[in-house]
Amino acid sequence: MRKPLIVANWKMHNTASEASSFVEELLGKIGEISSVEVAIAPPFTALESVSKILSKTDLVLAAQNMYWEPEGAFTGEISPVMLRELDCRFVILGHSERRQYFGDGDGEVALKVGAALTEGLMPILCVGETLGEREQGKTFEIVERQVRSALDGGMPDSGGGLVIAYEPVWAIGTGKTATPEAAQEVHGFIRGLLENLLGEGLGDEVRILYGGSVKPDSVDSLMAMQDIDGALVGGASLDAESFARIIHFK
Ligand code: 13P
Repeated sequence: MRKPLIVANWKMHNTASEASSFVEELLGKIGEISSVEVAIAPPFTALESVSKILSKTDLVLAAQNMYWEPEGAFTGEISPVMLRELDCRFVILGHSERRQYFGDGDGEVALKVGAALTEGLMPILCVGETLGEREQGKTFEIVERQVRSALDGGMPDSGGGLVIAYEPVWAIGTGKTATPEAAQEVHGFIRGLLENLLGEGLGDEVRILYGGSVKPDSVDSLMAMQDIDGALVGGASLDAESFARIIHFK
């Protein structure tokens, strides 16, 4: 059984103090959450303050990125070891904004996935096609290349040790959610690919999240799909009421 996973990707929003007040507000709204795993990915500067609050709850911490070396002369970078010390369980890797603005290509993503697995962090590997690629009928080709190349960096010991997030680039921050059927088509394809690459048992255990304008009014129908095991939520995770509703999808 794959336990649903809902992840808040705050991107570059919330200072450390704003993050703490937000999480306190959120905790007041969500109540019992035993049937779903919830992770918060604040900016690096808020990891420590959020970590302290989450340590007393069932929610877990995620980072939005990292470098692949454990330490060294890499000005401005953050290592997996540093994230582990703050009790991060997950790290988002290969997000399309990293690929688009910061030069993270398939090679860098593979190195990061390998380093995360080695250091005991669970990668949330983001994949997805642009609008142009979709219109050219290249969705499966792009997604397959991104998944295969990322796993060249390392394979998880268990299916539960890896999370994939399918985030069609055209759906991110645009208000255009993929229809549940269109998302399921890609998720089913990714499932088949994972079963091929990791073996059927492991491939079936990997959680595949959907991301791209997930809102309270779209989450229920997405989560009803067979291979949609959770959501990676941007904008709607910055509003406590909306994010609490998403966590309690029906
Ligand atoms: P939005 O939910 O704002 O579209 O962002 C999705 C995303 O990029 C999550 O990683």
